[in-house]
This record gives sequence, C-alpha cells and structure tokens, in this order.
Amino acid sequence: MERTLVIIKPEAVIKKLVGKIISIYEDNRLDIIHAHRVLPTKEVLEKHYDAHKGKEFYDSLIDFMSSSEVMVLILEGENVVNIVREINGSTNPLKAKPGSIRYMFGETIQKNAVHGSESIEIAAKEIDIWRDLIRFES
Ligand code: PPS
Repeated sequence: MERTLVIIKPEAVIKKLVGKIISIYEDNRLDIIHAHRVLPTKEVLEKHYDAHKGKEFYDSLIDFMSSSEVMVLILEGENVVNIVREINGSTNPLKAKPGSIRYMFGETIQKNAVHGSESIEIAAKEIDIWRDLIRFES
C-alpha cells in the first residue's frame, strides 16, 4: 500500500493547528498509520532536505525546522502521495488553492504549515530518513 510522509511544521504546532490539520486528512478518508511529535535533529533534516543543499534558503530552512517540535505523520492509502499534495496546496501559500491547508494556515513559503513527500520514491526515502527518530517500526 502506498505511503507518504507529512511534517506539520514548527509554526503550525506552536499555533495548535495539529488537530485541525489531522482532521482534514481524515475527512479525506486517508489513514494516519503513525504520528510522532519530535524536535528534529539537524542530521535528519540535512538528509531530508539534501535536494535543496546549496540553495539560498537552505540554511534558514534547516534552522527553522530544528527550532521547535514538529508532528510527523505517515499516511497510507491508494494514491496517497498525490492526494496529500493536493490537500496541502502549492508550496507558496499565496499561490495555494482556496481550501488547501497552505492556503488556510500557511504564512510564508517557509512557514507553510506542512511538508508532504513529492513522489512515491521520495516518500519511501523520507520514511527511512525519519524512521528511528519517530520510532516507526513497520
Ligand atoms: S522548490 O521551489 O521546487 O525548491 O520548492 P519545493 O521543492 O516545493 O520545496 C522547497 C522547500 O523549501 C522550503 N523553502 C523554500 N522553498 C522555496 N523558496 C524559498 N525561499 C523557501 N524557503 C523555504 C519550502 O517550505 C519547502 O519545504 P517543504 O518542507 O519541502 O515543504
């Protein structure tokens, strides 16, 4: 069964949006098979954001994501990667569709409430990167 990794980002956790965001996924009939709140280590974040290394926003992104706890979710279901990306909306909240999580809760391109894996292959890699930190065993 297809899986994807969602990170509810620090500013959304601080704003107590975790329950609302989880409800949106569940209202779309997606299964949350794992949830773990954790302070991300720089080691895990550097692996997770490896594709962005060298970009001008990279250092600031790592600092932001390690600044406070996040809620990491693993969701499972048919076509879950694409469904979650649609529900999340565009990376830039200003370009996100009305009704999407980033439209409703995103502040900036960095503080955009949630991360969702880009593809099935990237989801599998991201789940492996986070596996120990979030104590996901299956
Ligand atoms: S891009 O434009 O293709 O690199 O964007 P994307 O792959 O969707 O996600 C980039 C992640 O970096 C965070 N971020 C920024 N992206 C683009 N521009 C700026 N200035 C920027 N600052 C931070 C953005 O929130 C994405 O984080 P995740 O956690 O993947 O959603």
